[in-house]
Amino acid sequence: MNLIESIKQNAKNNSQRIVLPESHEERTLKAADIAIKEGLASIILLGEKDRIIKKAHELSLKNLEQAVIIDPKTSDQREEYARLMVELRKSKGLTKDEAMNLLNDPLYFSTVMIKNGDADGEVAGADNATGDVLRPAFQYIKTMPGISVVSGAFLMFLKDKEFGENGLMIFADCAVNPNPTDKELAEIAIATAKTTRALAQIEPRIAMLSFSTKGSAKHEVVDKVVKATEIVRNTEPALKIDGELQADAAIIESVGVKKAPGSEIAGKANVLIFPDLNSGNIAYKLVQRLAHANAIGPILQGLAAPINDLSRGCSVNDIVELIAITANQAMSQK
Ligand code: ACO
Repeated sequence: MNLIESIKQNAKNNSQRIVLPESHEERTLKAADIAIKEGLASIILLGEKDRIIKKAHELSLKNLEQAVIIDPKTSDQREEYARLMVELRKSKGLTKDEAMNLLNDPLYFSTVMIKNGDADGEVAGADNATGDVLRPAFQYIKTMPGISVVSGAFLMFLKDKEFGENGLMIFADCAVNPNPTDKELAEIAIATAKTTRALAQIEPRIAMLSFSTKGSAKHEVVDKVVKATEIVRNTEPALKIDGELQADAAIIESVGVKKAPGSEIAGKANVLIFPDLNSGNIAYKLVQRLAHANAIGPILQGLAAPINDLSRGCSVNDIVELIAITANQAMSQK
């Protein structure tokens, strides 16, 4: 069984409640229909019931009859959710009227649903920018204990099996933090190691990437990567990590031997940690498009409950797979 099949099987065995706030979006409805048919999750759609049912008929999506549909604008839960929001944001001075207003937005309603224990995870972003999906999650779900920064990892399934772990590599952060500090970069590496073990089910070999290998160039942005590597080594001494490494030194054995002799990671990395969001986001999209890799994610790591953000260029299949991944995260966080 390949990794995605095994993730789907896990999801089937432990039905989790996954909320999809973008029910006006055609790919999302099609993915919801498939997820129900395959038994990957109990699906909750947010939006106007009549509109969703009409659209489901037009698209012949028969399985959607089994979805729970909740309209954030008329839900009986609004009062209770608004009270919870005011409580959670009292330091920010949120009023009840403001909370009621925010609840009209399905992206806020869904996160508060999860916070209140009425759903286990969320998938959104087919129709909304990353920031709009993440902000409610940051404000109401918050980070796991001991984590200060949420980041986004991708499972990259490469056609060329010589790289990573039989063609599987994990890239991070490709989605959230424009310019992490050295401490934040270290946290991203540690969180990605956890995702690699939990979801990809492999032992991480982490390369902290830069345009320099072992002092070949000097610059403050290189220093940040060196410092982050040192922080990870001090915090998690058992983790296999090296840096700073250039991308070729990290993944090509012959280059690794030359540029970083003696490194146990150079030439063998299966996890690539990028120094900033420019490099991480550009890298995953180039590998996806030029090398035809199957890029699954971003899988958000570090949130206290799983909320995952799609790229707006996603396919129906991307959404189905992310629903299964979110269900797996929900199980492992319980
Ligand atoms: N982890 C945890 N919490 C965070 C993080 C983080 N990485 N970043 C911000 N927060 C929290 C803040 O602490 C704050 O909490 P508070 O309101 O309780 O005090 C809240 O989130 C809002 O913080 P701001 O600093 O106001 O953050 P802002 O809303 O300006 O930005 C955002 C956050 C939207 C995630 C921003 O960092 C961003 O736009 N990142 C880039 C996203 C993106 O466009 N990615 C590329 C596309 S993704 C793709 O291609 C798949």
